[in-house]
Amino acid sequence: MKLLKADIKAYRNLKEGTVEFTDGINVIWGDNAQGKTNLLEAIYVFARGKPYRMKKETDVIPFSESSAGVDIVYESFGREVPMSVYYRRGEKRKMKISGGEVTRASEFIGNFRAVMFCPDHLSIIKDSPSQRRLFLDVAISQTDKKYVYMLKKYTQILAQRAALIKDAAESKSTNYGVFDVLAQQIAIPCRYVTERRMAYCEKLGAYMATSIDEMSEGKEKASAEYSFDTSLSEMTDEAFYKLFCDNVDKEIQYKMNLYGVQRDDIEIMLNGKSSRFYCSQGQQRSLSLAAKLAEGEIAKEETGEYPVYLFDDVLSELDSKRASYLLSKLGERQVIITSCNEELFSPFGVSNKINICSGRIK
Ligand SMILES: Nc1ncnc2c1ncn2[C@@H]1O[C@H](COP(=O)(O)OP(=O)(O)O)[C@@H](O)[C@H]1O
Ligand SMILES: [Mg+2]
Repeated sequence: MKLLKADIKAYRNLKEGTVEFTDGINVIWGDNAQGKTNLLEAIYVFARGKPYRMKKETDVIPFSESSAGVDIVYESFGREVPMSVYYRRGEKRKMKISGGEVTRASEFIGNFRAVMFCPDHLSIIKDSPSQRRLFLDVAISQTDKKYVYMLKKYTQILAQRAALIKDAAESKSTNYGVFDVLAQQIAIPCRYVTERRMAYCEKLGAYMATSIDEMSEGKEKASAEYSFDTSLSEMTDEAFYKLFCDNVDKEIQYKMNLYGVQRDDIEIMLNGKSSRFYCSQGQQRSLSLAAKLAEGEIAKEETGEYPVYLFDDVLSELDSKRASYLLSKLGERQVIITSCNEELFSPFGVSNKINICSGRIK
């Protein structure tokens, strides 16, 4: 997969302008606070379905204006595909693929595929389980539209269940019939999401182990496993149904949902120890880098082509050994990378340089 062009109408501080991209390494360079990350974020919207650093979606509209918009053209298996996204204050965002409007995120996500790696991604290793679940959700969504649908359905029913639990706790009366219906409904997406995440983690663990082995020259062993409810007897809808049905009284007592994929995690280990608690910063950096490289490999395995790699200021975070490893792995793939230093990547054969100054693309 290859991004050919991004046409910015307006996006955060970015002014109207067009960027053409080439194969290989594309460097977006400029001083701090000029709009480099904004450009990368604008591209990543097409992979993720929404901006990755936002509170409200309309945050991407330039402060002094009423709308934002980006068009891209990407190439996949020899076919050129245009996509666009437009935001206007007080309105729902508009998304198009090949000129046709789409309303659902599940139709928009999974077309243009990209792996984003930024300094924040250390959080995959060191932060709470929610960051690792988010990593899985974003990655799996790009190659599996059914996952987007199932995850949304699951979240909706879980919210209904939370309200029902709260009601039952406050009113001290429980409508077991409604709990039963919701248990039947939630069991199906819960099983699907669990199985997909489990399968993903199996591949993730294998790829991460290889990368860590290479980076450490055989000295370190990494593994990643999906960690989920151990009381689950088997992977059937029936077993998931029972999980949501049999513990209602306990959940009312605790006033919350106690079961389901919102409690799961990835257990990432280095040399047999939990990476979250026992790794040095450097080891955590290697692991997060390995996880991101794995994300690209798995996307290739599942779709037949590499995604586009978007790297936000990561080389400043990596030491020269890890940085060279990263760039050596990217071979013929398309990489779009931001940096304050125009020359930093020259030894690796930069094919395209884009300068950004005060939101203007040069
Ligand atoms: N909605 C917005 N409208 C106008 N400017 C914005 C908006 N959101 C962020 N900015 C500004 O964009 C500038 C550039 O941000 P960024 O792309 O992160 O810079 P960098 O080049 O360092 O990566 C920041 O100064 C920020 O205040
Ligand atoms: Mg930046």
